[in-house]
Amino acid sequence: MIIDGKKIAEDIQQEIKARIQSYSTRPPCLAVVLVGEHPPSQIYVNRKTQACAAVGIRSIKKLLPANMTEEELLAEIEILNNDPQIDGILVQLPLPPHINPNRITYHINPNKDVDGFHPFNVGKMLIGEMDGFLPCTPLGIKVLMERSAIDITGKHALVIGRSNIVGKPMAALLMQGMPGGNATVTIAHRYSIDLPTLCRLADIIIIAIGQPKFLKADMVKEGAIVIDVGINKIEDATKKSGYQIVGDVDFENVAPKCSYITPVPGGVGPMTIAMLLHNTLLSYQLKLKQGLIS
Ligand code: GUN
Repeated sequence: MIIDGKKIAEDIQQEIKARIQSYSTRPPCLAVVLVGEHPPSQIYVNRKTQACAAVGIRSIKKLLPANMTEEELLAEIEILNNDPQIDGILVQLPLPPHINPNRITYHINPNKDVDGFHPFNVGKMLIGEMDGFLPCTPLGIKVLMERSAIDITGKHALVIGRSNIVGKPMAALLMQGMPGGNATVTIAHRYSIDLPTLCRLADIIIIAIGQPKFLKADMVKEGAIVIDVGINKIEDATKKSGYQIVGDVDFENVAPKCSYITPVPGGVGPMTIAMLLHNTLLSYQLKLKQGLIS
């Protein structure tokens, strides 16, 4: 079965929109910071702000020059941290090479860290306190599986890729002792020996390595669940644009072996955005509860 991430994300967006409409207070607000002109980041940032508008979240786009200093970016974040009208702050990655992304992430107020990248929120997630912000892509995958009625309890999940944005937090969520967790987790990366064998042992494969069509049919066991996080642009002369977007999975050949698989596009991608909206609403709701919004 092909999991329709677009449809599930749309359902969630409708739920978020209805919840926001039920408030008589000011709308939630997300600040999105983009440094430089990295073309894929420009596309992602636009998608995020458009999604905000569709559900009634106000967004502020801060487009900053690639040659700004780390100190200048920290000062921008400080302004956003101190602005009571802003509920969420997202600094789009990657940043230009002269800016240390960790230093920037550390500086975002953890209560506005809707990406879930601040060490405070990462730590909370790791120790199983789920009331912090969870990173959008792994959370989106968890919700995608839950809404598809996939029970991962006791299953062997293989996460391929160990990034701070996807692989590491994904493994943490899958292994956590909570509903939607309780899996047996293996993390593979570029130094893993005999990846095909590891793959064939897995009930669930989550792949996020940025290698077009890397996961082949002979690496997947019959009935496996495959979640494809990759977004890769490859040349395609038959397309008007001259390219097509493919995932990290050789979808055409892998899909027939799977019990569930996510497509690219239309799988994990829309869920990442839906979870960003979810986290922004969460931040807003926490402030509402504390009487900080009128
Ligand atoms: N770059 C790629 N994915 C992400 C994400 O989820 N958040 C941010 N801030 N940057 C990204």
